[in-house]
Amino acid sequence: MARPMEELIGPDAPAEMRVLRKEQPVCPVRLPNGDEALLVTRYDDVATVLSDPRFNRTFNPRGAARAGDRATPPADLGQITRTLGMDGPPHRTLRAVVNRAFTARRVESLRPSIQKLTDELVDGMRQAGSPADLVEHVASPLPIRVICELLGVPHEDAEKFRGWSDRTLSVTSFPRDEVVQAWHDLFAYFGEQVARKRAHPCDDLLSDMVAASDDEEKLTELELVYLATGLLIGGHESTINAIGLGMWRLLEHPEQVARLHADPGLVVTAVEELLRYQTLGDVDRQRFAQEDLELSGVTVKAGQMVMAGVLSANRDEDRFTDGERLDVGRHPNPHLSFGLGPHYCVGAALARVELQIAFGTLLREFPGLRLAVPSDQVRRKTGLMVSGLEELLVAW
Ligand code: HEM
Repeated sequence: MARPMEELIGPDAPAEMRVLRKEQPVCPVRLPNGDEALLVTRYDDVATVLSDPRFNRTFNPRGAARAGDRATPPADLGQITRTLGMDGPPHRTLRAVVNRAFTARRVESLRPSIQKLTDELVDGMRQAGSPADLVEHVASPLPIRVICELLGVPHEDAEKFRGWSDRTLSVTSFPRDEVVQAWHDLFAYFGEQVARKRAHPCDDLLSDMVAASDDEEKLTELELVYLATGLLIGGHESTINAIGLGMWRLLEHPEQVARLHADPGLVVTAVEELLRYQTLGDVDRQRFAQEDLELSGVTVKAGQMVMAGVLSANRDEDRFTDGERLDVGRHPNPHLSFGLGPHYCVGAALARVELQIAFGTLLREFPGLRLAVPSDQVRRKTGLMVSGLEELLVAW
């Protein structure tokens, strides 16, 4: 009997997953749309599903090709030949363009502006007075402003972006015509920006992507626009959620906060640990088996949908000693929160810098920072596809 996926997410998920890892590591589940899939919960199996070419994101060998990405534009928006949601050579071509532009040097060069943006937002939170909502004041506005900086588009456009991005990511919250309109607006916007960067290249990611594409990879205009849109959407909500959930988990553990005060350099391992411990978007990592194969002794049939249980893998006791415990000094920490294999998060380095700066600045500026409501009253976002906080009231 397939278990409804809703039973396996939410606050009790870690306990449910612990049982599954032992007793049913490959578990039939039913998604809210009625689709059936297999949920894998052991670290090694999850790593295989994410990185082994016998699994991919879009292709179902039973016939129907399907979008692996919920943030994929509706088909009626025109023919997009290659997107990051695809697999194989078309995907590699796009990744090559992004990788050539999204370098470690570029991420490092953003550090001072990320610090400045964070300082401004933290000041705003201080002025709002204690208690304040950390999601509203810091977690939510920071990532979109950083993406504007990264792509080299005006900061004034951040609010417009947020509206479009929320709609394109929405599964149910907005009427379909609003979602389609948001895609149109995004494409029109980035179409203009790509033309502007081609005419007047600057030192930013979008200019570098245009150059990388013009040099050798020869993307169409629409593919370039879609790449920019993918970065905006890919880098936005996940980072908001990582900041909110990360601070929540951290403030639940005052002894770990004390370690960070005593040794602020620990923020680097703390970021990895908070990503491991909270784990976002678990339900999103779906793949299709391309051939019959075995995982933990269970046969997976070609064409079956498999959900990679990242939340569970990140706490697997065979991989993480004392995995249920938050330890901001944990090292090594091979968590799978940025994925693994061909679709590994392109923005991981940027996200790491953003989280290090956000957590480090908040702790430094508010040495007495604490949760303003009991932890079980912190308001989480509802819905299957997102795991994040509506609000995080903090006091200082
Ligand atoms: C803490 C924040 C973030 C988390 C937890 C996160 C997580 C992930 C994960 C798990 C994947 C792999 C999805 C899969 O295997 O199906 C992914 C892919 C991706 N991420 Fe991130 N991400 C974060 C921040 C960012 C940022 C800041 C950007 C860009 C500015 C970004 C852009 C992307 C893109 C474009 C992909 C698709 C890559 C591909 O399919 O080749 N992400 N992210």
